[in-house]
Amino acid sequence: MTSAQWGDVMRQAADIGVVQTHLSGGEPLLRRDLHEIVTAADSAGIHTQLVTSGVGLHEARLEVLVGAGLRSVQLSVQHADPESAELIAGARAFTAKEKAAGLVRAADLPLGLNAVLHRANLDALDGIVELGLSWGADRVELANTQFYGWALRNRDALLPDRTQVARARERVERWRERLAGRMELVWVAPDYVDGIAKPCMGGWGSISLTVAPDGTALPCPAAGELVGPDAPNVKDHRLGWIWRESAAFNRYRGQGWMREPCRSCELRTVDFGGCRCQAYALTGDASRTDPACHRSPDHGAVRALVDGAASATAGDFVYRAPPKT
Ligand code: FES
Repeated sequence: MTSAQWGDVMRQAADIGVVQTHLSGGEPLLRRDLHEIVTAADSAGIHTQLVTSGVGLHEARLEVLVGAGLRSVQLSVQHADPESAELIAGARAFTAKEKAAGLVRAADLPLGLNAVLHRANLDALDGIVELGLSWGADRVELANTQFYGWALRNRDALLPDRTQVARARERVERWRERLAGRMELVWVAPDYVDGIAKPCMGGWGSISLTVAPDGTALPCPAAGELVGPDAPNVKDHRLGWIWRESAAFNRYRGQGWMREPCRSCELRTVDFGGCRCQAYALTGDASRTDPACHRSPDHGAVRALVDGAASATAGDFVYRAPPKT
């Protein structure tokens, strides 16, 4: 989409009540006109957060983005040890991230770090929290891997065992006591290990929408395969119609689509039946209960994977692109 088309999307988004946008990717800094999109969002009254690897963020670029109305930045981190971080990322990016964090702090923007946690870094959680402190983060999101997309493809290499997760959870509690008020720690629960479905996206078509670089509008960033060719596009329809009327956004909205055990479950208004993308990825049917839920008839396969993780040998990572050296 052109920057003019993005500008129009931002204005339409504001009209339907959107208050915050995450400019994410891939890597949003690859767009040279990113500042124009930020300007459009900010002028429409939408809070803008840049979600970035930090690679490609230099002082002049950040200055332009801040001038355009950028309000906060979230940086992804993989590990506090540069070598381990680069092995997980498959790219030499640690120094660029460190530099980006310094620039964001110098610009006085709120800084969040997002660390996706898994078998190769859960035991290094202390270091990630300390990294957040030393880089001046306001918030560190400790996000246990959710297994779809590339994570599903890498599941054998990433899935932790229960004791590893228990150790990490305990460390988070200790850090929360120590850090009270200084830095926010968010723990995104490991749904496979806990056997508890997450209230994914706050419910399908409930509080959030994604517009992809080609204009495809989706109820969640991972829903491309699930929605398939039915996905509406902002080039063909107004965002208000997409949000309110389109089949894609209404398919799993509310509770009418639910089957048992969700339909009569007392948690259906809390977890909304779990994650539609995960139900689709693991069963081929997005209307089934999320198999991560211990009440799902499909949960046995998830439990067997977690039970086997302690004795399994972690495989090698499969990268999107061959690691750069
Ligand atoms: Fe798409 Fe959960 S990731 S609904």
